[in-house]
Parts: sequence; C-alpha cells; structure tokens
Amino acid sequence: MLEPRAAMKSLHAYRPPLAGRQGLRLDFNESTIGCAPRVLAKMRSLDAEALARYPEREPVEAEGARFLGLDAAQVLLTNGVDEAIHLLCSAYLDPGDEVITAVPTFAMYALFAQAEGARVIQIHSGENFAFPLEDVLSRISERTQLIVVANPNNPTGTVVECEALLQIAQAAPHAAMLVDEAYFEFYGETMLDHRPWPENLFVARTFSKAYGLAGLRIGILAGDARQISMVRRVASPYNVNAVALAVLPEALGDQAYVEQYVAEVRRSRTELEQELKTLGLHYWPSQANFVLVHVGSAHAEFIQAFRARGILIRDRNTDPGCEGCVRLTVGSSKHTQILIEALRDVVQKLGLRGEVRT
Ligand SMILES: Cc1ncc(COP(=O)(O)O)c(C=O)c1O
Repeated sequence: MLEPRAAMKSLHAYRPPLAGRQGLRLDFNESTIGCAPRVLAKMRSLDAEALARYPEREPVEAEGARFLGLDAAQVLLTNGVDEAIHLLCSAYLDPGDEVITAVPTFAMYALFAQAEGARVIQIHSGENFAFPLEDVLSRISERTQLIVVANPNNPTGTVVECEALLQIAQAAPHAAMLVDEAYFEFYGETMLDHRPWPENLFVARTFSKAYGLAGLRIGILAGDARQISMVRRVASPYNVNAVALAVLPEALGDQAYVEQYVAEVRRSRTELEQELKTLGLHYWPSQANFVLVHVGSAHAEFIQAFRARGILIRDRNTDPGCEGCVRLTVGSSKHTQILIEALRDVVQKLGLRGEVRT
C-alpha cells in the first residue's frame, strides 16, 4: 500500500473557512475595495497569446527588486507569501531540525515546517502578546534551522522592533530567519530600512493585503543574493502565473491608490478601536488591517450574529492565548461604518457590554 512520508501522518491540514463567503468579508484580512483600476484594465487587456505562453518571471522580478531598492539577485517572486514560507522550509529544513515561532501566529509556518519533518518550538507570547524576545533568544541552539516572525503579527496585530529581529538573526547565524511583512503597508516599519542585513535574514512581502490581489497569489521574498539563489533552486520557474506577472508592474506603479487605501484603513482602525473602547470590549491595539477582540464565551454566537447581518468575521478562539477572541478585518471607511453599526447592535443583543478579559 502506498504510504506518504511519516511527517504527513501527523500533519493537520489547514482548512480556512472559505466556503460560502457571501457578504462583507472581514474574515481574511483582504482589501475590502480590491485592486487599482489600472491593474484591472491591464488584466482585461490580456489576450489568448498571453495565456498560451509560459510565464517569464525574471523581468518582473527585476521590477519588484527595483521597487524594494534591491538587486534582482536579492529577490524571488513567489506564489504569495505562503509559497515563500514553503520554499524556505524546503531549502533549509531536514527532518529533526528545529523551527522557532512565537505564538499565536500565522498557521502556515508550523504546517510547512512539520511537512519537512522539522520540530516546531512554539514560544508563547508575553502579556498582551508582547514578543517573547528573551525566550526566543534562549531557545536558539545548534539544531535551530529556521526562525519565523510575522511583523505585524497575525492574529494579534502586535509588532516587534526591527532591532530585536536583527538581534535574533545575529544570534542564530546558522539558521534562516524569516520576517514576514505581509501587513507592512499598514505599519510602515520594515527590515528593508535596516541594511546591510546578516546573510541569514529573509523578508517576505505580499500583494494580497494592501494591494487587493489575494486571488492572484503573488508575493516577494527578499534576502542575501547567495541564499536567494539556493531558494530559487527549489522554486518552479513558473511559480507565478502570467496574469499576476502582467499586472504587477501596474500595481507597483499606482502607489497613490495603495497609499490612499492604507490611510483609510488606518483611520478606520482608529475609529473601530475607539468604538470597542466605548463598548467596553477588550482589544489589542493593532498595526495591521485587523483587530483582535475578546468577546468571551459567546464568540461563536457573536460570529453567527454578524453572519446573520451579512458580515463575515473570524473566530480565533483556538489560537494559543486567544480563547474567546474574534478577529475583525478593517477595510474602507464605508465598510468600517457597516461593521461598527453591526458591532453596536450585536453587543447589545448578546448583552456583551462591559465584557472584559479575565
Ligand atoms: C502573516 C501572514 N503571512 C502570510 C499570509 C499569506 O499571504 P499570501 O496571500 O501572500 O500567501 C497571511 C495571510 O493571511 C498572513 O497573515
């Protein structure tokens, strides 16, 4: 009988709740307004010939590198940050190697690491999800082969200073260190401003969030040229599809569109946080396009009540340290207004007012 590798048997598939996502989608931290009109126009202009050809990644990769102020050899375009994580795990992990993450965090780090047979060391964040810097530093050993930090972190929206991340990378020169900057645009601080980097440091960016292109699956992995060339070896030459490659220059070229959306999200985030305060719901101040909120034991009912109002939000109750928590994506002003009105209504109906985290 055919048997998969041993690592597959203990792997739990990550099944995000993608089915039936009708209504206002505030459950996956997507853009609520979508991409720039320029991007759509380019996509509509593509013809059969453009799709018949295998995609050529390199010229667009060079544009991506220029945008980040890097050389083409220092970047790899990927099928979203998800693929960047997968490729790093393939390139650097052997069975039994150790991977360090601070939890709660994005689920795909552990999944791809475990798929390689690596041992994932999940370090619990401190009070109010403070990044556990000392604990991370103390768990680095010669078996550590990968350290991953999302900055800002998902699902908490919390951040860690770039200097602390550099300190970790320098403390583990034998390990790859990935700083996942999927929500960079909503925060504004980046490892890219702290160069030169140590050779083991990688930074990942996505076009799924601020750029509104989650459906296209495109991201950028940046790092040391020699290390990127190693990662490139395990990537398919056609990992990014022709449509994504055709529109990326348009997306990069319309920074005004992205900046406007990001400014709107930041204003909306402040408004939402203010409302949560008024309603007496505990939340964690966020630097991303979402806010984690504690609603207590009524979390499932809370989510259901939003669904009944045509709004999808995400249950984070089973994430470490997130018992009774839900995550609300912050979008445009208009969508945040709808969210806030529903929030007032649901909090009142469920009698949640003043529910505080114990
Ligand atoms: C921290 C983090 N990294 C990566 C991703 C996935 O990014 P992409 O769509 O580029 O694969 C997400 C998506 O939610 C995320 O929260």
